[in-house]
Amino acid sequence: MENIQGMKRSHRCAELTVADAGKEVVLMGWVQKRRDLGALIFVTLRDRSGIIQVVFNSETNPELHAKAIQVRSEYVLAVRGTLQLRSPEAVNKNMPTGEIEVIASELRILSKSETPPFHIEEDSGANEVLRLKYRYLDLRRPDLQRKLMLRHRVAKVARDYYDTKGFLEIETPVLTKSTPEGARDYLVPSRVHPGKFYALPQSPQLFKQLLMVSGYDRYMQITKCFRDEDLRADRQPEFTQIDLEMSFVDVDDVIAVNEGFIQRIFKEVHGLDVTVPFKRLTFYEAMERYGSDKPDTRFGLELVNVSDLVKESGFKVFQDAVANGGSVRAINAKGAGASFSRKEIDALGEVVKTYKAKGLAWIVVEEGGLKSPIAKFLSEAEASALLNRLGAEKGDLLLFVADKNEIVFDALGHLRVELGEKLQLIDHSKYDVLWVTEFPLLEYDEEEKRWVAKHHPFTSPMDEDIQYLDSDPARVRAKAYDIVLNGYEIGGGSIRIHNQELQAKMFNIIGFTDEQAKERFGFLLEAFKFGTPPHGGLAFGLDRLVMLLAGTENIRDVIAFPKVQNASDLMTNAPDVVDDKQLKELHIKTVEDLG
Ligand code: AMO
Ligand code: AMP
Repeated sequence: MENIQGMKRSHRCAELTVADAGKEVVLMGWVQKRRDLGALIFVTLRDRSGIIQVVFNSETNPELHAKAIQVRSEYVLAVRGTLQLRSPEAVNKNMPTGEIEVIASELRILSKSETPPFHIEEDSGANEVLRLKYRYLDLRRPDLQRKLMLRHRVAKVARDYYDTKGFLEIETPVLTKSTPEGARDYLVPSRVHPGKFYALPQSPQLFKQLLMVSGYDRYMQITKCFRDEDLRADRQPEFTQIDLEMSFVDVDDVIAVNEGFIQRIFKEVHGLDVTVPFKRLTFYEAMERYGSDKPDTRFGLELVNVSDLVKESGFKVFQDAVANGGSVRAINAKGAGASFSRKEIDALGEVVKTYKAKGLAWIVVEEGGLKSPIAKFLSEAEASALLNRLGAEKGDLLLFVADKNEIVFDALGHLRVELGEKLQLIDHSKYDVLWVTEFPLLEYDEEEKRWVAKHHPFTSPMDEDIQYLDSDPARVRAKAYDIVLNGYEIGGGSIRIHNQELQAKMFNIIGFTDEQAKERFGFLLEAFKFGTPPHGGLAFGLDRLVMLLAGTENIRDVIAFPKVQNASDLMTNAPDVVDDKQLKELHIKTVEDLG
């Protein structure tokens, strides 16, 4: 193996263009492929910029040609040569550097490679488990490299943008106390304090609020957050937030600054001009119309409440749902009545069942009348009122769920997205950004039998709703907002409570005694006694934002070393057992079987 002494890289492979023809260049990179055509050997050399063809000619340089024969895929080479234009018949239109090639005059093999476990190429078809085990090889693939470069770009634009808006980047601790963002904490045992634990932050929430108390006015940080929760395609146990907080602001100020950021990102990343302000939907409207607090509004299929029309119908399921305080809502899948088979309709029924709906009632509007398992329960007047409200025409498929509102929204909200895809109503080239505002402050946790904060317990109620805090907590709306991109929540935040009494009251409402509140958040309550500016902020999920900008639905694609569904890292094999000695120092004994 050779070294690079005396050779200095002049360019990255795909930075070269036709304009560089005639130049002597020195390139270093990995062998994508070697093609041996007898007198000529072609090597495609790859670095993070892309690939270029290098030519070794046995007639002009037999020694070099002989050396090039040894070259294999993924060997690391240094090549000196002259850049020349390819002859017209040799031009490769599928390659950005397809009009040029390097005629080699020097070759050094800097490093050899074993045959990789999968071929390193764009859009690899190799199994993801294998690719994650050899993540460092997978990361050589151009599509992943582009995604990580995009991620760099987004983080860079964020720092620059918030800097121009007067935000200071300030780091907050990673070994800290539990922050209530609703997930389980990752705990770190203390060696020095037997039996005590740090918690890794679920977000920098408390610290950023304290920075406002300290007068920093505008804070931002690109930072890791840790949440021990069930993973999904758009969730990781450790993920990154673009986190920020501002003093002396109300909802509109926070929204405006962050709209500016999203606008800037789209411009810099995709060259797109998006207009601000973005659409805003209240939580109530989002649920009523889309059955979701993160609606994809690139397509219609809106939910329609038909409770009043069917509350006395002969279909007991409908009648009972309304009588029990729930509702009956419907979606008109336009045209799908004519095109969907019975099997396809039944499959939609299975979809809603995964969201706890008990069934999916349906009506197909046909020439001569209605085809439906529930038609027999509906009076003529009811049927015609339904068709009328749903704007139903021949060929339409009407789909109904009756249940508690929560289930109806969840089931139809997801069904709507499924139908949008199935009916190809979603224009995937479009970006749809909107704010959802006025979230409920609290929600009732049936398991724990208590109210919990919907965003987090530092979120301020809306001024006009404070009066209902005791009498009707469900009615209280919060100064909370989420930003939604194509049906994904990419960020969320709120105006905070900056009044110590109200904060203490909030803790009481969510079931903390004064002592418990003091024990967990005493430092915050204490801080609030010393002059707290009104403040609020937001955090973007950087991974999700980049995922959507990169056009993928897999969050792992935009994280260099991600974890899989069961929160393990297939490459390092973390989490793993540790030495008994380490455990002993940490005062920890593991219990093999807790029963
Ligand atoms: P929230 O909990 O809404 O707010 O988180 C903000 C954003 O972070 C992203 N996100 C995640 N991304 C990947 N994997 C996860 N497990 C994950 N969890 C959350 C989402 C989400 O919108 N402290 C508050 C912010 C504030 O009030 O200022 C907070 O953390 O895109
Ligand atoms: P059944 O009377 O149970 O055979 O139901 C008749 C139709 O109503 C079937 O298509 C069921 O899927 C549907 N159905 C049952 N429960 C519900 C519900 N809660 N909401 C909407 N449709 C339902």
